[in-house]
Amino acid sequence: MKQLYIETYGCQMNFADSEIVASVLSATHSLCEKAQDADVIILNTCSIRENAEQKVLKRLEELHALQKKGKSRRIGLIGCMASRYKTQWMESRLVDFVAGPDAYRFLPEMLTDAEAPQVRTELSLDETYLGITPLRYQSNGISAFVPIMRGCNNFCTYCVVPYTRGRERSRNPESVLQEIRDLAEKGYKEITLLGQNVNSYRWENAYDFPRLMADAAGMDPKLRIRFTTSHPKDLSDGLLEVMAAYPNICKNIHLPAQSGSTEVLRRMNRKYTRESYLERVESIRRHLPDATISTDLISGFCGETEEDHRQTLSLMETARFDYAFMFKYSERSGTYAAKHLADDIPDEVKTARLEEVIALQRQLSYESHRKDIGKTFEILVEGPSKRSDAHLFGRNSQNKVIVFPKEDCQAGTYVHVKVIDCTTATLLGEKVQNNA
Ligand code: 5AD
Ligand code: SF4
Repeated sequence: MKQLYIETYGCQMNFADSEIVASVLSATHSLCEKAQDADVIILNTCSIRENAEQKVLKRLEELHALQKKGKSRRIGLIGCMASRYKTQWMESRLVDFVAGPDAYRFLPEMLTDAEAPQVRTELSLDETYLGITPLRYQSNGISAFVPIMRGCNNFCTYCVVPYTRGRERSRNPESVLQEIRDLAEKGYKEITLLGQNVNSYRWENAYDFPRLMADAAGMDPKLRIRFTTSHPKDLSDGLLEVMAAYPNICKNIHLPAQSGSTEVLRRMNRKYTRESYLERVESIRRHLPDATISTDLISGFCGETEEDHRQTLSLMETARFDYAFMFKYSERSGTYAAKHLADDIPDEVKTARLEEVIALQRQLSYESHRKDIGKTFEILVEGPSKRSDAHLFGRNSQNKVIVFPKEDCQAGTYVHVKVIDCTTATLLGEKVQNNA
């Protein structure tokens, strides 16, 4: 068997895709842990921001240097950068083969047949990798990601995803549910359903995302179900009702706001206003008083004024986000914004605004954590704490990390932990009772 090494960049969807790639190649290639040992090296890449792409380019150059010493290897570029750059790095021999997100079924042929085309970047309207069981080589055996759809139809003006990953398509619910059932039988305790916009999941006979969630959660009350990502324009009360009805559906909603200014949201083509976003937040609070809300925010989008930026800060305070991923706007060629809107906010201003957003979020996260002191949560233990051998960590339903003294519990079990202290990033607790 040839040795295969895969390195993954970017989002959870890419991590899930790498497991599909490992699976399609498993008849001819076994996975290895180091690039040096591999006959084939695959980089599964991300294009969402410029620095994501730069990281990959730097790595390709490093691998090119490795290529010159030692045994000969083939290097493959897959994922979003494959869609964007196609043959660009073939001529310089930085890469030997290229496969876009819908071309992974061609990989065995590309790697075993020298005559086969070595660049496959066409996008598909219906590829969902039906029939391929991911090889879960990155897994802790406790939590697993299950993609329920691919692609995106939203065309936010800043975003490359609709171009790199193609049109939105949902996966057959039978195959999704079967995959979850198999994972539960193998002992997995937590499943995260993945899609760029899970709320637009659709199948025949009006089978929609709330029904899929109910069917997944109904399978086993000890199997936690999470999902990401929700587009605020599509988050329905129907879903919130299903979330409220099943204790094993985790009470965390990732609801990317991007901006708190209606005018900026309009230029981003987000299809909601500040007010309608806040109305969704209120509905979440009404249906799910215990839920946490996390978000994504972009600072310095085209034409963002100081007042727009203030509106983002005030939206954060009103929504009281528990957690946020915060970015500087990064212009991506090919998008509507790159073609039609000027990237006119100077980098220093983007940086200063981002820093303000981060500082405010740190405070909000801390306040959110402080409110948990004294409360007891059921947590799913994931493993040893990164900072201390004497501690374990797990997550509660709200997706907060809780660290607690080790005692006699094991990864993959549920324990009750009382929160006694916190930092901005973690809750510190002590075990009160084990009902695993
Ligand atoms: N610049 C900065 N951030 C971006 N995101 C998507 N595209 C860009 C871009 N061009 C962010 C959004 C999205 C998250 C996955 O990445 O906040 O929700
Ligand atoms: Fe994921 Fe988007 Fe990055 Fe592609 S560009 S890897 S879809 S985050």
